[in-house]
Amino acid sequence: MRKNIVAGNWKMNLLAHEAVELFNEIQHFTLSETPSCRVLVFPGTIYLPALQSNSTIIEIGGQNCHFESHGAFTGEVSLSQLRSIGLSKILIGHSERRSIFHETDQETNKKVLAALNAGFEAFICIGESLSERTSQKHFEIVSEQLNIALSEVSESDMKNIVIAYEPVWAIGTGETASPEQAQEMHQHIRQMLTELYSEEIAQNTSILYGGSVKPSNAKEIFGKEDVDGGLIGGASLNAGDFIEIISSF
Ligand code: PGA
Repeated sequence: MRKNIVAGNWKMNLLAHEAVELFNEIQHFTLSETPSCRVLVFPGTIYLPALQSNSTIIEIGGQNCHFESHGAFTGEVSLSQLRSIGLSKILIGHSERRSIFHETDQETNKKVLAALNAGFEAFICIGESLSERTSQKHFEIVSEQLNIALSEVSESDMKNIVIAYEPVWAIGTGETASPEQAQEMHQHIRQMLTELYSEEIAQNTSILYGGSVKPSNAKEIFGKEDVDGGLIGGASLNAGDFIEIISSF
């Protein structure tokens, strides 16, 4: 049975003391209220060791990784390094990695395979740009991204895959996909998983929505049948907002 998930993507935000403060507030809430969804945060890489060692209930993941296990890749972090501080979740293929750092679908797939091989749960981000949506190519683009990201991923590995549908035009823009637009794409993704694997795999895979989720729209979006939670950027930087979003379940 798939799980509901609320995950915060902190991106390149927060100073050290702010990251610890925010984390402590969220952890305090999750300890006292026992939310009915998994709660994750993806903090900046330098904060991972401190937060990982402080975490009792919140799950922590890296925002990016290299697909090689070690070597001459200045500035990169490997999955085995993340593993060595106790991490087992990783965000892969975020649209900012794709658009700003020119990460291709093929590199995303290499990272996914490396993550599964290293025993990680991979959160794979896919989503179309504004021009792709306005030219009605959104289903085609998302299908292609998903197909390539999951290439050579076995049926048994699918238990360690979470998909995040994040339309690029809705990320950090204040513009949200309507609950119907989200549902339509999530249903399409689930249908693809049925075709690629099986009905059972499709039903057991969590599909998150990301793109300007906030306390005022979370409940309606999460209420859609095929939306199993959210990947939250801006609103995850404010403890009150993030807690409200968690409480939407
Ligand atoms: P946003 O970001 O919530 O600020 O739109 C979402 C994301 O990039 O994961």
